Amino acid sequence: MNTGLDGRVAVVTGAASGIGAATARALAAEGCRIVAADLREETVTAPAGHTPGTWVAVGADLSTPGGAQRLVQAAEENFGRLDVLVACAGVYETGGVDDVDDVVWDRVHGVNLRGTYLCARAAMKTMARGGYGRIVTFSSIAAQTGGLAAGPAYVAAKAGVLGLTRSLAGAAGPHGITVNCVCPGIIETPMTAAIDEETKRATAARTPMRRNGTPEDVAAVVVMLASTGAGFVTGAHIDVNGGLHMT
Ligand SMILES: NC(=O)c1ccc[n+]([C@@H]2O[C@H](COP(=O)([O-])OP(=O)(O)OC[C@H]3O[C@@H](n4cnc5c(N)ncnc54)[C@H](O)[C@@H]3O)[C@@H](O)[C@H]2O)c1
Repeated sequence: MNTGLDGRVAVVTGAASGIGAATARALAAEGCRIVAADLREETVTAPAGHTPGTWVAVGADLSTPGGAQRLVQAAEENFGRLDVLVACAGVYETGGVDDVDDVVWDRVHGVNLRGTYLCARAAMKTMARGGYGRIVTFSSIAAQTGGLAAGPAYVAAKAGVLGLTRSLAGAAGPHGITVNCVCPGIIETPMTAAIDEETKRATAARTPMRRNGTPEDVAAVVVMLASTGAGFVTGAHIDVNGGLHMT
């Protein structure tokens, strides 16, 4: 498959860890120039052997308008354009209904939902000038099932991302920009280290593909949504969960 990504400029948030790190590597392997963002710049690692001048690490809190704007500026200042945004940064929460205090609720919504909105809003302005863009947001199977181990703040924020994706897709389409969402199942990353091993084993056993996912499983789908050929797919979500949503 020719993804048409060679020479494109991609911003990936949450690029220090898990799915974001794998996605930044996968897009770089397709020839993208990358702005790799996370809370702290020094935690983001460029792929071994990457071409010098094709990778920039940025430290920013993406739940703030200034942090989101910094990413777009980094793309424009270093590479002169922005073609792809992967809004992957997220925080997890496992509390029960009675455990979620205001601070947790605001943090979980601030990063997962508001942060996605702020990054997409900033990216759309720049992409619209070029009449082209690909935005990929991150929801979760938890938004569909109510959560295996996730708490209500996380489930609600990720359900919000599904609605946000459709709202953005409607506004962005006339500018040549697609906005789509991925809904991972259980993916082996530092985020799911919080889920106990027995729960993870049991989930893998009832998943049709008989395993939990890897960050690369998700990155491959993001590459597909970011490709030039996916230009008539927008406002959609794709489940990346080995069939777990059917069980
Ligand atoms: N791992 C899973 O099973 C799973 C399942 C469904 C959805 N997801 C979603 O996929 C995305 C990636 O998850 P992951 O498993 O790779 O998580 P992870 O914890 O490995 O990585 C998340 C990254 O986001 C960064 N981040 C958090 N808050 C930030 C902020 N305010 N500004 C900038 N960066 C920030 C963290 O520093 C971290 O590097 C998240 O949105 C998550 O909710 C993951």
